[in-house]
Amino acid sequence: MEVVSLNNGVYLLISPKGKRLFCFVSDTCFRYFTPDTGHSYCVTSFPPVSEGVVVEEGEAGVIFSYEGNEVVIQDDLSVSASYLGTSYLKLEPRGHQEAEQGSELAAKEGHGGHLSTSAKGGIRIEVNAPVYGLGERTGPLDKRGYDYVNWNTDDPSAHVDTFKSLYQSMPFCMAHRGENSLGVFLDNTSKTHFDVNKTDPDAILIDYEAGEPDFYFFVGTIQKIIADFTLLTGRSQLPPYWALGAQQSRWSYADAREVESVIDGYREKDIPLSTVYLDIDYMSAYKDFTVDPNKYPDVKQWLERLAKESIHIVPIIDAGVKAEEGYDIYDEGIEKGYFCMLNGEVYHNEVWPGDSVFPAFLDPKVRMWWATKIKRMLDLGFSGIWNDMNEPASFKGPLPMDVIMGEGVPHSLAHNVYAHHMCMAGAQGFALAAKRPFQLTRAGYAGTCLYASSWAGDNQSIYDHLRMSLPELMNMSMSGQSYVGVDIGGFGGDSTPELLTKWAIASIFNPLYRNHSALGTLNQEPYLLKGDYLRGYRNAVMARYEILPTLYDELFLSESNGSIALRPLVYNFPEDERTHNENTEVMLGDSLLLAPALFPGQSKRSCYFPATFLRVEDGTRYEKGDHVIGVDLLDMPLFIREDGLAVFAPKGNRKAAPSSTLRLVWGGKKARCYHYEDEGDGLGYKKGEYNLYELEVSEEEGVRITPLYEGFKSRYKKLVVDVPGGLHMEEDLS
Ligand code: NOJ
Repeated sequence: MEVVSLNNGVYLLISPKGKRLFCFVSDTCFRYFTPDTGHSYCVTSFPPVSEGVVVEEGEAGVIFSYEGNEVVIQDDLSVSASYLGTSYLKLEPRGHQEAEQGSELAAKEGHGGHLSTSAKGGIRIEVNAPVYGLGERTGPLDKRGYDYVNWNTDDPSAHVDTFKSLYQSMPFCMAHRGENSLGVFLDNTSKTHFDVNKTDPDAILIDYEAGEPDFYFFVGTIQKIIADFTLLTGRSQLPPYWALGAQQSRWSYADAREVESVIDGYREKDIPLSTVYLDIDYMSAYKDFTVDPNKYPDVKQWLERLAKESIHIVPIIDAGVKAEEGYDIYDEGIEKGYFCMLNGEVYHNEVWPGDSVFPAFLDPKVRMWWATKIKRMLDLGFSGIWNDMNEPASFKGPLPMDVIMGEGVPHSLAHNVYAHHMCMAGAQGFALAAKRPFQLTRAGYAGTCLYASSWAGDNQSIYDHLRMSLPELMNMSMSGQSYVGVDIGGFGGDSTPELLTKWAIASIFNPLYRNHSALGTLNQEPYLLKGDYLRGYRNAVMARYEILPTLYDELFLSESNGSIALRPLVYNFPEDERTHNENTEVMLGDSLLLAPALFPGQSKRSCYFPATFLRVEDGTRYEKGDHVIGVDLLDMPLFIREDGLAVFAPKGNRKAAPSSTLRLVWGGKKARCYHYEDEGDGLGYKKGEYNLYELEVSEEEGVRITPLYEGFKSRYKKLVVDVPGGLHMEEDLS
């Protein structure tokens, strides 16, 4: 095999089997791709390592070494790699793959084969260890035994374990082997397929239908791999503080009066609320960027008044634009050539407004145009943007593969990043309005979290989906998407009071905490609940409002270090095998654990504690191991590590805003954590207007607050330390 150094750290390999490019991205990451690979839609920073790489040509193949990472590429383009002497990767290329035999016949009865057409090529990686990542998926935390397709899909039927695709594509996964874990990212936006130890129990098989094999391989702990992957593709950004509060939505509240009755309902039943969403019916005839004046007569004034009451309103924006002459967005888009095209004509399909066209978001001019419209909404007083139907969903069959979605890119390659670019446009809109972004998106690709938070789409009001939400969100989080949630109570179908209350409790760690339901379902606003259900839901929201500072800390750390907020137990206890496929417990940061009820009628459950934990409400102590715990509607199954520390808001806090009391909830044994403080909104933190503290508490030395960085005038006046069921201490800080 011939090796040519391209002088920028990239090497061209010419073998009888084809050409490949190779480079190190860091000592723990390398890229293996082809000369035909186009530019990436999500890799935001990629300087190849250009110095210190040693290249040797031996009998085994070409050997690239850099700081302990040794990668051997053979004539047949197979790769083996080791880090500090331990092997972490064995890869063989896979050629063209035919579609599954008989799949067309099966499809006639509605059974989908996983590859609708044949695959262009792929790889086989020999590995058998717990696999995490792949973003928004049904099925368990450990993905072994399942296969998944990356093709953003709006399938309204109930999401079940055998679903291959949901709304988002995340061609990234990790095989967990401690320090020697392997991360794989296939940066290819066509339809790709990950078979995780399913057809071949000893291997992960990855295929792509079009485009090029642009692979990144990572080695290290799973924590490091996530941080490295998000450094490459983009990290979730710190949301405004209010966006962590309780959010209420429904398809649709009829008008301003109904929205106000929702706000009043919350108030009357003393349940904190920060945000209400406006679903499609707020628009005139489902036209993006319009507000129906009959339903919202003076929207600017109305939004101003609600803002004074700390209520934020977030409208939905759909990808499909109504095709109607005289509608400014349509007229401007037509005049400027800003819509997707097919055979030289503007492409039409159908969405909510009927006949619709689709902005060609891959074109930067289109994004800038869209951004000015987003700014218009923000200037009007809306607090955030909810991007929907951006797979893009279409009612008259899928968009043909050759529809051009901007910059000459066909649907076959643009589909999975269409929403990604819509979110980029939205983020530009926030930048124009000089606001800290709060965007929500249904569809996305690797790196979309840089621009928008995600919810897991149209779930159902069933216990299966309550249970599914835990591994689904944990794997989104393990894919670097830190700010995520699901529709609390379930979107489709009718929630029962018990399911709704249990869902509210089970979701208190979900970074995005939104109750939403579909048109035609029973209303599920919590103030409609009665008795213990109402009390249980309220308790959940109150618990949520106590842990807001920890959520905010974790989301800051996520943006700055690439750690994650919502965590499976394995993230914090990687060596403990009992955590490797734990689907019913979740952690927030290093110290807090939630073990909620997940079945009807359930008031007790077994819980595995990977260390000694204390129940936050009464201090009950559980040593490492299995225990039966109470999960009654009025119990809060929230635990803190005995050697853990977390910042809470004062008891009874009802505001989704930073507090002047620094309250530490402490497990009682020497512990430390980071804590972040800023304005709570705005862009000042990007210019350094924040404080970062290291907090340490021990019996011997008490509380030690060490500022690691100071750029913001602290608001803290009081320090409170609480050990569940024990010590309570208060101290003046002013
Ligand atoms: C589909 C979204 O997933 C759902 O949340 C929304 O309510 C409907 N579209 C209507 O806009």
